[in-house]
Amino acid sequence: MESHRNATEVQMSQLVLPCHTNYRGELSIGQLLKWIDTAACLSAERHAGCPCVTASVDDIYFEHTIRLLHIKFPWEGKNETCVGQVVNIKAKVNRAFNSSMEVGVQVSYEDLCNGEQWNVCKAYATFVAQGKSNAKIRLKPLVPQTEEEKTEYSIAAERRRMRLAHTDTIKGLVTNSPVQPEHENRDCNTVVPAEKTRVESVELILPPHANHQGNTFGGQIMAWMENVATIAASRLCHAHPTLKTIEMFHFRGPSQVGDRLLFKAIVNNAFKNSMEVGVCVEAYRHEMEVSRRHINSAFMTFVVLDAEGQPRTLPVLKPESGDGERRFKEASARKKIRLDRKYVTSCKQTEVPLSVPWDQSNKVYLSYNNVTALKTLVAKANWVLAFETDKVRMYTLEEDKFLSIRIEMTVCIDTMQAFLLLSDLQRRHEWDQHYVNAELVQQVDKDDMIYRVISQTISDENKPQDFVILVSRRKPCSKGDPYVVAFRSVTLPTHPADPEYTRGETLCSGFCLWKEKDELTKVSYYYQATPAVLTYITAYIAGLSSSFHSTFLACEQFLLKNKDDDSVRLQNLSLCSLSPDSLSPDNLSPDTDTI
Ligand code: COA
Ligand code: ADP
Repeated sequence: MESHRNATEVQMSQLVLPCHTNYRGELSIGQLLKWIDTAACLSAERHAGCPCVTASVDDIYFEHTIRLLHIKFPWEGKNETCVGQVVNIKAKVNRAFNSSMEVGVQVSYEDLCNGEQWNVCKAYATFVAQGKSNAKIRLKPLVPQTEEEKTEYSIAAERRRMRLAHTDTIKGLVTNSPVQPEHENRDCNTVVPAEKTRVESVELILPPHANHQGNTFGGQIMAWMENVATIAASRLCHAHPTLKTIEMFHFRGPSQVGDRLLFKAIVNNAFKNSMEVGVCVEAYRHEMEVSRRHINSAFMTFVVLDAEGQPRTLPVLKPESGDGERRFKEASARKKIRLDRKYVTSCKQTEVPLSVPWDQSNKVYLSYNNVTALKTLVAKANWVLAFETDKVRMYTLEEDKFLSIRIEMTVCIDTMQAFLLLSDLQRRHEWDQHYVNAELVQQVDKDDMIYRVISQTISDENKPQDFVILVSRRKPCSKGDPYVVAFRSVTLPTHPADPEYTRGETLCSGFCLWKEKDELTKVSYYYQATPAVLTYITAYIAGLSSSFHSTFLACEQFLLKNKDDDSVRLQNLSLCSLSPDSLSPDNLSPDTDTI
């Protein structure tokens, strides 16, 4: 047990009362969002030492748990001794960037009758610190202590990258995703015109809805949004809907006490078992004011559950012409994206297949997944030293299904130069005898590339192996962060398995490079062995370590030989000008090297 208590951690426990619940006796998600936002804001303010506002809340998936928040009212059971249920919220700052912070929130609930505890959801919110003047605040950095904090700290940079690209990513995805017509059997033939689901509702912002500076709480706005979305969804199905997912909320601008908020919602599309409701929020100051400020737009997915908790078939929605038809198609595209994204960002790595299908329009999530898997491995604490020479150290890490290997040494080379050399798989054959050839199949952007690699390793089928690998590289987000080069297998329709080769797969491997001094870099290579090769590896660990060792020494020679080769940087410069990346995490801090 770690006794360390994070200084930014805030805990909130709320007894769920009938006034917090809906008709089904479930905790209202709007209420939950208010609690989440408040706890997260208090944690952010604890770190910042000044007032903070909600900039965004990432997608939230509510899995099977919310229904369990059923309250047993005393009159429901004769001898009920049930005292009720408690929602426990834990919020802590994962990372401070410049003026913004990522706060991680864990929501669980506790049944006071039997002491059982369940996870409800996890949320990530971004708060921006606001000073008295309009000058941008520079937050003090957060120093992670525990293994879990280090992982969250490291991955927070990747999530930030994804968050800031969200609007563009979704736009791109919606434009590029072909909408496949759904061939589904619906045993319900009712057609509901979309306009029947339209909701418009106004709220006047009063002091209890705002902080002491008069800025509305983000959670309050989210709760009002959930309210109108639920009404729109109910109008489609004439039953009580259950909220399943909320897509990222981004608060575009502030609203204050005295503002009026106009909420508009409509069902954009109804699929067989789920529907998407869109909500748009605008603010205005006076009743006579014509122009309105766009505060937020969000999309929520609802299902309707029958008495057994199974999703009911929904009526067919007939969209309005014009915007309605556009939103109908966009909702179909978003549905596909949501499923893909949930799949690639799944934290349950053991359930992720070795190769994920490459989808250009989903590149942000696939590279997020690639880098995150490596960063998670890097942050693990239980590495055991297995082998050591004067130069090279090799560690292993055993976890239920996986055995991971880390091998490291310090090399006299500039870190950026090593980063550029090691992220170029076309040069890997110069030091890794297992690599015969690597062909660049696709330059996805300046930091992500797909290669087809031919390896010398002979498979059981007596054929050489080939791999299709996504390489995602990241420069440090702030001083002390490593340079990261992550590898994972993807599948590409243009490169199906070739009968002359055995298609190999790698789940997670790559390099982490730490700048120790000028011209001194700690190079670590990580490799997560998949269950299929695990028996082999554990049996041959000694042989393997010597093979890793000699390969790694060859890697050192390669780095030393090319440490002053200017063409490496020049080649990379031309790549950067091809696709300038305003989201690169190194835009965060002036402490880092620039290419
Ligand atoms: N998600 C997460 N962070 C975001 C973001 C988003 N969608 N958009 C901007 N940010 C972050 C930026 O990355 C930046 O962080 P950094 O300083 O750590 O690098 C920070 O917000 C400020 O960005 P900047 O470009 O200087 O300002 P902006 O004009 O984009 O304003 C807000 C950002 C959040 C301050 C502004 O949109 C706002 O005031 N929104 C309303 C906030 C509010 O009142 N919320 C409560 C409910 S209304
Ligand atoms: P978009 O139209 O691209 O979806 P908006 O920000 O205009 O983006 O709206 C977000 C969502 O809010 C829409 O998808 C729709 O579901 C809902 N919405 C917008 N305008 C209205 C309106 N006038 N009446 C009801 N719902 C609306």
